[in-house]
This record gives sequence, structure tokens and C-alpha cells, in this order.
Amino acid sequence: MAIPVLHGVVGTRPNMMKMASLARALAEDGTFELRLVHTGQHYDERMSGVFFDELGLPEPAHRLGSGSGSQGAQTARILTAYEEVLLAERPRGVVVVGDVTSTMACALAAAKLGVSVAHVEAGLRSGDRAMPEEINRVVTDALADLLLVSDPDGLGHLAREGRPREAVRYVGNVMVDTLLRELPAARDSNLLARLGLAPGHYAYLTLHRPSNVDDPAVLRGLLGAAAEIARETPVLFAVHPRTRARMAQVGLPDPPAAGILAVEPLGYRDSLRAIQCARAVLTDSGGIQEESSVLRVPCLTLRWNTERPVTVELGSSELVGNDPERIRAAWRRVCDGRWKQAADIPLWDGHAAERVVRCLREVWQ
Ligand code: UD1
Repeated sequence: MAIPVLHGVVGTRPNMMKMASLARALAEDGTFELRLVHTGQHYDERMSGVFFDELGLPEPAHRLGSGSGSQGAQTARILTAYEEVLLAERPRGVVVVGDVTSTMACALAAAKLGVSVAHVEAGLRSGDRAMPEEINRVVTDALADLLLVSDPDGLGHLAREGRPREAVRYVGNVMVDTLLRELPAARDSNLLARLGLAPGHYAYLTLHRPSNVDDPAVLRGLLGAAAEIARETPVLFAVHPRTRARMAQVGLPDPPAAGILAVEPLGYRDSLRAIQCARAVLTDSGGIQEESSVLRVPCLTLRWNTERPVTVELGSSELVGNDPERIRAAWRRVCDGRWKQAADIPLWDGHAAERVVRCLREVWQ
């Protein structure tokens, strides 16, 4: 009998780390054949290709080549292209991860054709519908048949939204599987030597959320706060393409100030190394919030809300928003040794993907 085919959707950088552990666990289990669908939402080598090589992801079976564009245009292109793929090759089910536009558009294409959808990282809610990702989360969870939850609060959100109990499972965090697997290789990264940084003596900054980078006053304020930190401690700033484009548009210097090392987006192992050895991380990335928590590195989350409350409740993250004064005060607390201690998070243990595969077998075998 032929092995049932599953599609695994990847579109952007943060999808790759999640799909890597799922691809490995599915291959080890052998019940399903996983075919990757790459939407092309992220297309630069540094935002996509490098992760395939580093994480050993299988070559995509389908490339939709959607590229960038407005939210609507991107959604429409992915929806149209993926519908064609689904019609030509009806998979047993589609696994989508995270909350990016690719996640939502592929879930929608599948659901409309009656193809079952499993959402990994279901139930996250920031409560902030101004974030494109929040819309993607709500829509994807409304469409998915199987909701695989990574943050304990997700269970309550899905119950309140009326999702049937039997469709919802707490499995832990598949991105942490990849982190724990890659940590030994990350320790061998020569990133710090390359950049002349010493472990424990720099801050690691990433920014890409529209709410932080699309408003010139906010972006200036954030980079101003980073410049102040950089007067005493070097700041490693891995610049997302969206952010680099906005800095150029508003005429901000690159690098933004002395002491800020503005580099291209990092590969996965270098990024783990950068987090692991930082005095503190300043970020608006959900994934880096989680990684900092697992690595127990102080994380100043540059947002006013989070869909990942467990990183604040148990992890090393605190919401400091994008007000330069609050960022300065939080940084002082890090320097004075007054940051909280992180604790373990339930089932962020390196085995989440195996639990996902068990759930998939239960419903799709
Ligand atoms: C997307 C996700 C966000 C995720 C982030 C990680 C949505 C709504 N947002 O945001 O949740 O945390 O990815 O990076 O899905 N660009 C390049 N090269 C690339 C990719 C993008 O130059 O490889 C440019 C695009 O042309 C665009 C900008 O970067 O101008 C933003 O890309 P986009 O896909 O819109 O969203 P992100 O901000 O990356």
C-alpha cells in the first residue's frame, strides 16, 4: 500500500526551525511521506536557503514563488498557487506551522478543498488585531482540524473560541527540539571571534515587526536606545531586510551608531550562539523570545503584548515595549544583576515533534 503523503508548509525563516524537527520525526516514524511546500514568502538565501542547508530540511517538492508584497497580494498569490498544487496532488493532510501569511493562506486553500489541516503552534493570541500575525493565528485555528499547542495559555484560548476539545492537544514546542539538537553545533560557531565580541559582553538586537520598524519615530527611538547601550557595551544588530529597507527610506545611518555592529541576518547556529552568549537580548521576534527563555538569557521584548505569555511567566522575557526610557531602565536592571531567573516550561523538552507525529497518526493514519 502506498504511504500517505502529507504536505508541510514553509514560507518564512521562522517556519524552517519548526519544520526541521517535524521532518526528522516524520522520517523516523515512517508512517507518512512528507513533501515540503515552500511558498517563497522569504526568498533571500539568508532568509531561507541557508536554513535548508543548516537544518538538513528536505528539498521542497513544490515551490510557489510567491515573493513579497502587501498582505492581500501575498495571501492571494499563495492561495492561488497552492490550490493548484492541492488539486494536482491531494495529500492526506497539510501541516502548517506558526503564524505567518503562508501559514494562513495554505490552511485556507486546503480547508476550502476539504483537505485536513494540522496547525502546529496553535492557540497563541496576543489580543492585538493590528498585528498581521494575530489575524493569521485566528484564521488558521478556525480552519484547522487538529490544533497542536505549544504554550499552556493556548488551551484556554481555543476553548473560549469553541474549538472542539478532542481536536486540541498540548504537545510542547517543536522549535525547542531543533534548538536542543543544534546547540552543540552552535557552540562551535566562530561568530563571536569573527565579529570581535566576547561572551557575556554584548547585547544582541533584532527588529522586524511593522509596529517597530514602519513608523520612523518608533524606529529612531529604538535605535537611539540601542546607541546608548552601545556607548558602554557593543550591540550586535542582525538586520532584517524589512528593517534595512525602512532605515534607508528614512535616511538613518547604517550602522546606526558607533558600537552597533549591524550585520546581515544570521544563520541558525550563529543566531543561537549570539543569543546564548549575550548579556541580554533585545528583540521583537517571538521565536527569539522563546529561544532566550530556554537558554535562560535575559530577553527585553520590544513589544507591548505577547502571544507567548509563558516566556514572561516562566521564561526570561519581560515586555518592555518600544519606549526608549523603559528599555534603558530594563537594561540597567540586567547590568545590575536584577533580572529574574527563568524556570522550565512544560514539555519544551526536545520531544515535541514526536508527540506531533503521534497525534497525526491517530487522526490521519
Ligand atoms: C514575516 C512574518 C513574521 C515573521 C517574519 C520573520 C507575516 C505577516 N510576517 O515578516 O511573522 O516573524 O517573517 O522574518 O507573515 N524580504 C527580503 N528578503 C526575504 C524576505 C523578505 O528582502 O527573503 C523583504 C520583503 O521584500 C519585504 C520585507 O522584507 O519588503 C518584509 O517581508 P514580509 O514577508 O512581508 O514579512 P516579514 O516582515 O519578514
